[in-house]
Amino acid sequence: MSILVTGGAGFIGSHTIVELQQAGYDVIALDNLSNSSETALKRVETITNKPVKFYKADILDKDALNNIFDNEKIECVIHFAGLKAVGESVKKPLLYYENNISGTINLLNTMKNHNVKNIIFSSSATVYGNPSVVPITEDCKKGECTNPYGWTKSMLEQILTDTQHADNEWNVILLRYFNPIGAHPSGLIGEDPSGIPNNLMPYITQVAVGKRDELGIFGNDYDTPDGTGVRDYIHVVDLAKGHVKALKKINEKAGLCIYNLGTGKGYSVLDVVHNFEKANNIKIPYSIKPRREGDIAACYASPKKAKLELDWQANFDLVDMCRDSWNWQSKNPNGYKE
Ligand code: NAD
Ligand code: UD1
Repeated sequence: MSILVTGGAGFIGSHTIVELQQAGYDVIALDNLSNSSETALKRVETITNKPVKFYKADILDKDALNNIFDNEKIECVIHFAGLKAVGESVKKPLLYYENNISGTINLLNTMKNHNVKNIIFSSSATVYGNPSVVPITEDCKKGECTNPYGWTKSMLEQILTDTQHADNEWNVILLRYFNPIGAHPSGLIGEDPSGIPNNLMPYITQVAVGKRDELGIFGNDYDTPDGTGVRDYIHVVDLAKGHVKALKKINEKAGLCIYNLGTGKGYSVLDVVHNFEKANNIKIPYSIKPRREGDIAACYASPKKAKLELDWQANFDLVDMCRDSWNWQSKNPNGYKE
């Protein structure tokens, strides 16, 4: 029996395949490579010394999905495939709703038709909107998302919840990721954004490698200790290990479960800059810019439920994350491109 990893060539998917293979699972990766490279999977094979069976396929393609489920004995799907650029989602909402929502509905129908009813879904802290209290626990109400990308996550959570309620043979785990950064300590796989990075850490590493002149810090007048935005940064390897723990939970007939995957610690933009400088002995020039639309002041997790029910907790600290992000970027200045 195998685990199907959709979006397996992507940032979090590739790191999760490493952890799954190292934990002894048979893995099948599916990806349309719209935001990734097959090289990532070759690098995964180098790390784990095991082959990764790969289908280049699109979750919008029902025939392709059927073919994979006909050919393979799949026991669970870990579903990462989706578009994730917030700004692009505002400009192209229909692309995001079609890819993320129609694609997931195709996947769920194919699973149901093949009697595969176990799924772990990549959700996001974005579903909480602007939280009224931090740290955020899973029973906090979902909030207003500020962009179509966020709404696809919120709506997909609802679709998966309704699917499980209608048929309790389904086991559904919704994992709400906080801010994944870092890279595999080997430096072989990491985050490879296309174009100008939207997210903080890839922007910092591109400044460090000389591709960008300076970091713009989006606002220093938030109600936070130093005025810059506070987030819960989590090492992608810790996040990947959370999926292995979730898989164990699925096998215990989980029903519907929701977990935050974060460290429980909030760090400001300036904390990240200073930790990066200290970890790597590189100066990051920055200037203060206006607030970015849709940003919130502070967002960090209570990770207690994942600790209690999954026996999972994050182990890497911010210095580790800064060191590993730079290790990946400095060894691969152009990402997976030669
Ligand atoms: P990523 O873009 O690196 O990985 C997503 C993968 O899905 C890519 O390889 C892409 O080619 C593939 N894909 C997209 N549409 C597809 C389709 N129609 N058919 C097949 N493959 C398709 O992103 P990531 O950072 O690894 O994120 C993985 C998942 O986690 C996404 O669903 C994302 O929304 C979610 N998430 C990410 C973050 C983050 O900060 N990185 C935070 C919260 C949630
Ligand atoms: C963003 C998305 C969120 C998504 C997540 C992961 C927005 C509003 N939110 O979260 O939906 O799930 O990425 O993809 O886009 N910052 C700077 N300068 C930069 C970049 C970021 O100061 O060049 C600041 C931000 O204002 C924020 C912090 O750094 O305070 C983290 O930003 P980012 O990495 O983009 O993550 P989020 O905004 O938390």
